[in-house]
Amino acid sequence: MKKGKFITFEGCDGCGKSTQLAMLDKYLSQREIPHLFTREPGGGKISEAIRAILLDGANAEMTDECEALLYAAARVQHLHDRVAPALEEGKLVICDRYVDSSVAYQAGGRGLPGDFVRAINARALEFFLPDATVFIDLSPEEAFRRKHGADENDRLEQAGMDFHRRVYAEYKKLAAEFPGRILSVDGRKSPDALFEDVLSALRSRGCL
Ligand code: TYD
Repeated sequence: MKKGKFITFEGCDGCGKSTQLAMLDKYLSQREIPHLFTREPGGGKISEAIRAILLDGANAEMTDECEALLYAAARVQHLHDRVAPALEEGKLVICDRYVDSSVAYQAGGRGLPGDFVRAINARALEFFLPDATVFIDLSPEEAFRRKHGADENDRLEQAGMDFHRRVYAEYKKLAAEFPGRILSVDGRKSPDALFEDVLSALRSRGCL
């Protein structure tokens, strides 16, 4: 029986997710709130092995379908190994990426049918739908500018930028479709101001 709350964090690469997660970890630890931080894809032995296959540059010939199925496979194992036990213990579980990442990256980014991506993630969606999802809303252009400086904007046209634009557009669609679950926070704010928004978002959903 699930006693704890399940929170997920989402956003494009470079949106500032890691900084916010580190701030939240510190906040919860200082208040001695029992929690588990975890990330996808990963977790136990089997999920980490799948992660290694997914992130291995030598596997460039992997099909988009195979990639989506591996993310989904790693996810159910991770739910079983780490998320479910922690929720049963009443912990607050915070997961860095979840099913929304598959919809944004594999459907939005790679162009797989959304129904296929949702179908292979049906168990996760049915039994472990997050109580709240924090979406750090920062466009890939802004993320790129922040990382490389305004004078390198010409490199925005590099191969790959279109992929990240599609990922971002899909996140925006998801946020509009599920406003009750997905809480958007403005990633252009300073880390401290953004963290205040993250805390209010989580409080508004009864997670803190
Ligand atoms: P990671 O190193 O964890 O990056 P980040 O700090 O941005 O989360 O790598 C995760 C990458 O995997 C990221 O680019 C998004 C991608 N991903 C998917 O494409 N589909 C998924 O279902 C998940 C969970 C991640």
